[in-house]
Amino acid sequence: MTSAHTDQLQVALGAMTFGTRQDEATSFALLDQFVDAGGSWIDTANCYAFWESPDGRGGASETMLGRWFAARPGARDRVQISTKVGCEPAGPGTYPEATEGLAAATVERALEESLTRLGTDHVELYWAHRDDRGTPLEETVGAFAAQVDAGRVGRVGLSNYALWRVERARGIAAQHGWVTPSALQLRHSYLQPRPLVRDAVHDHRFGWVTDEVLDYATTEPGWELWAYSPLLSGAYDRDDRPLPQAYDHPGTTRRLAALTTLAGDLGVSRSAVVVAWMLASTPPVRPILGVSTPAQLADAVAGARLRLTPAQVAALDEPW
Ligand SMILES: NC(=O)c1ccc[n+]([C@@H]2O[C@H](COP(=O)([O-])OP(=O)(O)OC[C@H]3O[C@@H](n4cnc5c(N)ncnc54)[C@H](OP(=O)(O)O)[C@@H]3O)[C@@H](O)[C@H]2O)c1
Repeated sequence: MTSAHTDQLQVALGAMTFGTRQDEATSFALLDQFVDAGGSWIDTANCYAFWESPDGRGGASETMLGRWFAARPGARDRVQISTKVGCEPAGPGTYPEATEGLAAATVERALEESLTRLGTDHVELYWAHRDDRGTPLEETVGAFAAQVDAGRVGRVGLSNYALWRVERARGIAAQHGWVTPSALQLRHSYLQPRPLVRDAVHDHRFGWVTDEVLDYATTEPGWELWAYSPLLSGAYDRDDRPLPQAYDHPGTTRRLAALTTLAGDLGVSRSAVVVAWMLASTPPVRPILGVSTPAQLADAVAGARLRLTPAQVAALDEPW
């Protein structure tokens, strides 16, 4: 990691499989490269990556980040941590049916454990990873707000929530004078699946950016939208990652044609254009980059540095 900062990147680095699929050397190299390129947001969760761990438990990603902070003096001050609670399996093999949920005691305990693994006393953004309909929303919203009041959390976000639940959560917070959730994290990319088969590619029923979500984010001041899995597992640029069947429709063909044309004109990969398109869209969406090699990260950073013109964005948005 070098000492110089370049212009701040608006993308986040996804650390989901650091410490499981990526070993320490690879994880450290990607973190160094991201920060050197001007990145600051790192996205993780207390449950990452339980499905890759021999014991079926999360924690390896946060532990790896904590090791990196310890090995890189000053690094903690240069990054912003985004972590989550709510999806850790209640026991090995119980996901998605039984997870820890979002009761007040769980939020408090899970945050304590995350801070210990990360080796820090606060995180900049703390997310409810998915809705817990078995816990009163008021209890969950109050539990997150209490952590902000205690100085252990900067802001609160919601991930995989239905929009009506987001609005209800914000109403509850406003009613009590609590800190209001100010970010939503959902799955989003340039290509769109057919709505009726969305569930076939995703286990979060409401975990998609929809037109209604975009409208909400455009209208609400200070509201941030984060996109996970923006590169569709690499499908934009490699043949060994075929698109799921839900993307098999004429709109995909038309959108891929527009994407291919612009990527060719700009001399960059299609993945890079997808990253640039998200950042240039209205409302802007912050992509969370899932990368496992320095070359993939460099490619995504190139996309984050591109500045698409309104005409280029319109050319990408036109085909459906
Ligand atoms: N809130 C939530 O519920 C939620 C859910 C999922 C993820 N997330 C967050 O979002 C982050 C990203 O998610 P994701 O890993 O599912 O993202 P993704 O964008 O769908 O896939 C990333 C994968 O695509 C491949 N790839 C990336 N760039 C490439 C390139 N230029 N050329 C070829 N292949 C490329 C790599 O696969 P290989 O590694 O196999 O080479 C990489 O691991 C996670 O780390 C996590 O922080 C949040």
